[in-house]
Parts: sequence; C-alpha cells; structure tokens
Amino acid sequence: MKNPIGICDSGSGGLTILETLAKALPKQSFIYLGDHKRAPYGHRSEEEILKFTIELVETLFKKGCKLVIVACNTASAVALRQIQEKWLPKHYPDHRTLGVLVPMVEALTGLEWDRYNPGISHVPQKNLAVFATQKTVDSGAYPHQVRLRVPNFQVIQQACPGLVNAIENNAREAELKALVSACCKKLSGQMFGEKLDVVFLGCTHYPLVENLFRDCLPETVEILSQPKIVSASLKVYLKKHPEFKGGEKQTLEFLTTGNPENLGHLEKFLHKSSPPFKKN
Ligand code: DGL
Repeated sequence: MKNPIGICDSGSGGLTILETLAKALPKQSFIYLGDHKRAPYGHRSEEEILKFTIELVETLFKKGCKLVIVACNTASAVALRQIQEKWLPKHYPDHRTLGVLVPMVEALTGLEWDRYNPGISHVPQKNLAVFATQKTVDSGAYPHQVRLRVPNFQVIQQACPGLVNAIENNAREAELKALVSACCKKLSGQMFGEKLDVVFLGCTHYPLVENLFRDCLPETVEILSQPKIVSASLKVYLKKHPEFKGGEKQTLEFLTTGNPENLGHLEKFLHKSSPPFKKN
C-alpha cells in the first residue's frame, strides 16, 4: 500500500467520513482505525482523549501513514490542537494530522479558517444548531469558532447522551429513534419558537442515523453533511500537498482495538456490507 492516509475515530463513526473519502479519491488508499475497545470518548476527560488520540495517530503513523485524519469531533475539538502544535513537531515533524472541525467551521461561515475577517456583519443572521457529544458541547469549539468569524450567527448546541453507545452496541431501531427524538425535542426547547435554518451532526457517529434526525426535524431545516464537507476539504488539501497522496489503486484496511466479531451490525448503517475489521 503506497502512502495510505490514516483515518481514526473512537469507534465506528469515522466510517461515515471514510466511506465518502474513498469515493471522492478512488485511487487513494486508506487505513481505518477505530478505538472500539475504549469508545465512547464523549464523556471522558480531556487528558484521556488526548492520550487515546495520540495513540491512534501514532499507530497509524507506524503503519506507514504520513497524514492522519482524526475523524472524530470530540477529539478534534479537545485534543487536535495540542497534537498539531506540541506533539507532532517534537515526535513526527514530517507528518500531519487534520481534523473535522476546521472544514465544518469553514463550511458554516463560508470563510477560510486563517483568512477570516472578525466582526463581519453583512452576512444575514442565521440560526445554526449542532448535535454533538457532551464533550464537544462543553468545549464550546463550534460556537466559539463560528461566532468569532460571523458574530451574527447563533449557534445552539445539543448533546445526545447515549446515542454513540447505542450505535456502537447495535441497539434496536426503536431505542435509536427514542434517543434521537429526545434530543431533537430538547433542541426545539432551546429555540424558544425561533426558526432553525441549518443543522449539522457534529459527531461522526450521528450520520449513521441521519434518517432518524431528518424525521424529527422540520422539513425546512437543512442538514449539512460532514462527510461531504470533510472530503471536499481533503481534496483541496491534497492538491496543495501532493506529497501526502498515494497510489494508483485503492486499498482499504480496517483495524479495531476491539473485537472484530462485534462489528458485524455496522452493515445496517453503512451503504456497503460491514467492513472486514482486523484486530490491531
Ligand atoms: N464519533 C466521535 C465524534 O465525532 C466520538 C463519539 C464518542 O466516542 O463519544 O465526536
């Protein structure tokens, strides 16, 4: 496998990103690593999330990936900056890690991350909502970064307790529906009758049940696709940094820290059959 790109997540959520990336870059090889053994991350301490994310990234570096996408909003919001600014320059100065937060903020604001114009006010007011893990919500990363660039956007956050666990543990449809419907209700309670314009699922697990969110949200609400946005952003990045591109023929490898036998149910969520996970 030549120059594979690594993708990691606390569990199966990053597969939503990988699926779209693999289609968008049909010659690129990828190695996926899910930390199923320690998922979910959403209630863990920042120290744990940083430690686990470094371990995942390093495992993928050691397997030959020079670029790793941290396909987890929780890790991107809580740990990625420290990895990029402190750990990487010290241990792997020629390697790179990218997350999912930057492309989302760019898509939500229509502004490039490092070329923003703080205080921009001619953009019409919009109500945005992000569904995410409790840890991502607590980090405040999405509202902070969006409003830094476009202060007249309102960003409402809603945690979905239990949803990642339910997805990972092959919960029944009725249980998933009840969890999604409860968090949509809570979000609507935060709106105080105001109209919601855009929603995005700021946890890579949630697109696996996007249909359930669609059923619970008003029809006029646009749901942004994080996998599509991240994938478009990676394409732009690879144009600027062809040194991280690789191969003529796509190979996909799926690794888990957990038990591969427990992952058979993923085909219920993904468009293809369950990926053939191997124990890392
Ligand atoms: N899928 C991850 C995210 O995007 C993490 C979920 C979790 O492990 O709690 O936030």
